[in-house]
Amino acid sequence: MKPVVTLSLVAGLGVSIANAVPADVEARTTYPTVRRDVVVIGGGSSGTYAAVKLRRMGKSVAVVETRESFGGHTSTYHVPGSDITIDYGVQGYGDVAVIRNHFASFDIAMDQLPLSETGFGISNYVDFRNGQTVPDFNFSMDLFGFKKQSERYPYLYYSTRLPDPVPKDFLLPFREFLAKYDLEDTAYNMFYNLEGFGDLLSQTTLYVLKYFNREYLAALDPGFKGALVTSRRYNQQLYDRAEEMLGDDALVSSRVVSATRTKSGVTVVVRTPNGVKTIQAKKLLVTMPPLASNMEPLGMDKTEKALFTKFAASGWYVGLVRASGLPVNFAFQNTRPDTSHNLPKLPSLYQMSPTVVSDIYLVRYGTTGQMPDALIKRDITKTFDRVRTAVLGKKAKALRPAELLAYSSHYPFNLHVTPSEISKGFYNKLDTLQGHLSTWYTGAAIISHATGALWNFTDHLVDRMYETK
Ligand SMILES: *[C@@H]1O[C@H](CO)[C@@H](O)[C@H](O)[C@H]1NC(C)=O
Ligand SMILES: *[C@@H]1O[C@H](CO)[C@@H](O)[C@H](O)[C@H]1NC(C)=O
Repeated sequence: MKPVVTLSLVAGLGVSIANAVPADVEARTTYPTVRRDVVVIGGGSSGTYAAVKLRRMGKSVAVVETRESFGGHTSTYHVPGSDITIDYGVQGYGDVAVIRNHFASFDIAMDQLPLSETGFGISNYVDFRNGQTVPDFNFSMDLFGFKKQSERYPYLYYSTRLPDPVPKDFLLPFREFLAKYDLEDTAYNMFYNLEGFGDLLSQTTLYVLKYFNREYLAALDPGFKGALVTSRRYNQQLYDRAEEMLGDDALVSSRVVSATRTKSGVTVVVRTPNGVKTIQAKKLLVTMPPLASNMEPLGMDKTEKALFTKFAASGWYVGLVRASGLPVNFAFQNTRPDTSHNLPKLPSLYQMSPTVVSDIYLVRYGTTGQMPDALIKRDITKTFDRVRTAVLGKKAKALRPAELLAYSSHYPFNLHVTPSEISKGFYNKLDTLQGHLSTWYTGAAIISHATGALWNFTDHLVDRMYETK
């Protein structure tokens, strides 16, 4: 069996509805109204990229982020008492100009990591319900057939717009797409490259094509140079530096409580740890996942509501577990002997993989919808202990239970609508919304979870915001 390599070239959005501003943070001070050219909602991958570009264009900008720091799906853990850092969110990036240039502009060195050197240890295919190894099980790592299909739709890489009529293949449940092109033996490998997609086989093919795009496929191509990683393995550094650059305009642990938006500008009321701020701006850039629940404080009009209420999402959660006793460099991947293509049923832990520190493991968990973080955290450590006990037998009894060192929720992941909505022109309507009520949109829900595509789209969108009409 070959090792499964999951790079997760994902980028994400900063705002998660689970990360509310603490209730004790009430308005203590009311600041005078401040004026900015643009207010960006979300300090994740696309929001940070946009804010930096706008600043460099000479625009004034404020970024509102619910979390304590920028970075979205990027998370770096600092091992206490050492200078070791472990990335447990976004792992790597496609080798495209927009990525190289953005990191270089913050003076962050990158390396090319060939496929043969990636991966997370020696994979063991184990049923996480009981810790038993799944014997005699084959799958294909060959992505050539999928790539050939992907190449038919180059515009998916950089555009929200779809042809009219929408190509029939986009609307197929992914299991039918795999059957149609005789790609079923790749299902297991695809599943692990598309963690966060919930029930992948039922997912609409359009979303697979948008995320698993040419850049991601190139990074996994054995004949190619591989993916880009930060040389220090400290992906969060990009966001730390961007936050520094923005200074007081980086409003972290903050959230929009209300807004007025018109053709000529926006007024946004933001609750920050230091009180309530009112920001008047010419434009608003939404980069958070535009679920209706997140959009509510912005006051949606009928057109917007008709679109944003259609979104559903799946969940992806990442973390680090401390646990001793397992053989060095052992990785475990959840595998079911009794399902089609041996795919685990969600919610469940996807995998437990070694890191540079011998008793710290990277863990990734998936759900088909929203689930409380407390339940996920408990299931992660319980599953870890169950698998470890199955591997070590009686020896496991003397070990301390697995401990969750770090955790980050990527819910809501992969915002999607039904195939019927897609064929009725959902994405063209979404694109037509750009600029409506001085509001613009970027982020994974608008283009892709793959960082290069996300930054490419955002770069172009910021230019579009300032095109003279
Ligand atoms: C974005 O992608 C398009 C199409 O591949 C390319 O022409 C363009 O140069 C890219 N833009 C950036 C900023 O990378
Ligand atoms: C897996 O592949 C090997 C080598 O091609 C073959 O001998 C074996 O029967 C296959 N096992 C299954 C379960 O298909």
